[in-house]
Amino acid sequence: MENHTKDSTMKVSSLNCIDLANDDLYHSVASLKQASLDCGFFYVINHGINEEFMEDVFEQSKKFFALPLEEKMKVLRNEKHRGYTPVLDEKLDPKNQVNGDHKEGYYIGIEVPKDDPHWDKPFYGPNPWPDADVLPGWRETMEKYHQEALRVSMAIGKLLALALDLDVKYFDRTEMLGKPIATMRLLRYQGISDPSKGIYACGAHSDFGMMTLLATDGVMGLQICKDKNATPQKWEYVPPIKGAFIVNLGDMLERWSNGFFKSTLHRVLGNGQERYSIPFFVEPNHDCLVECLPTCKSESDLPKYPPIKCSTYLTQRYEETHAKLSIYHQQT
Ligand code: OGA
Ligand code: NI
Repeated sequence: MENHTKDSTMKVSSLNCIDLANDDLYHSVASLKQASLDCGFFYVINHGINEEFMEDVFEQSKKFFALPLEEKMKVLRNEKHRGYTPVLDEKLDPKNQVNGDHKEGYYIGIEVPKDDPHWDKPFYGPNPWPDADVLPGWRETMEKYHQEALRVSMAIGKLLALALDLDVKYFDRTEMLGKPIATMRLLRYQGISDPSKGIYACGAHSDFGMMTLLATDGVMGLQICKDKNATPQKWEYVPPIKGAFIVNLGDMLERWSNGFFKSTLHRVLGNGQERYSIPFFVEPNHDCLVECLPTCKSESDLPKYPPIKCSTYLTQRYEETHAKLSIYHQQT
């Protein structure tokens, strides 16, 4: 961390901070709107998730990654994008990365039982869980975190609706966040990144969905690039703030808002220290048609993107960035 932060070419970003306990809604919405127009990254504080509970979640995450690889491979991710993702499984920036990301992950989505009429949809389904004898209480902790993070996402969704001049409950509908796709991902980064050699903890990308709530430990690593077309690109560190989420808007919301709200390029550099983070990816319902929001178009500002179904869009993005599952089955 020292090397990177002392490097004078590496700026530290200052982001707006949205306080969910602030009664001055007008102020919160204005601040959120400004951040969304500028870079789509902001901090969220006073979200109501207890600090000690957060520590438990990170402790449990560490315990999972500390298991022998053989044990982790028992819950290898399935075709519904749930479960363990080994090192190099994801390659977010194929143009600049020699291998995949130097991270391991564990995807957990909303548990949808087999008798649910929507069970067969690509991002719904049951989660694989590590053996409860090996990691007691693990599933319960993760399920509780999933619920809590979803609650916070809904609160941010209300502010986003207001910032877009929509009805406060606009995104609460069943076809949107009322029955969303919401996936948390435990991550462990290891190793030292070297951009000159194409080695990254997490390659440059913008997130696929509507918004992401990122919880991190205290280790620096996340960087954003506000102007992806600048040459050379300028990267700024986003320092973690204890107890705060780093929230960023994804490509689906950029599309939905006709390019009004930004989804910004970001990446993670490893400095040799282990780093743990938990992004919580929020997208609308599978069947949601993502088409220009009513307040984001006018006669002089026509829709720039064709409408697309949420699950079609997401499936495409997952396929472009993740290894084919068959490579693991050939090995075993
Ligand atoms: C991601 C991501 C950042 C981090 O998983 O999409 O950008 O700090 N993660 O882990
Ligand atoms: Ni990301």
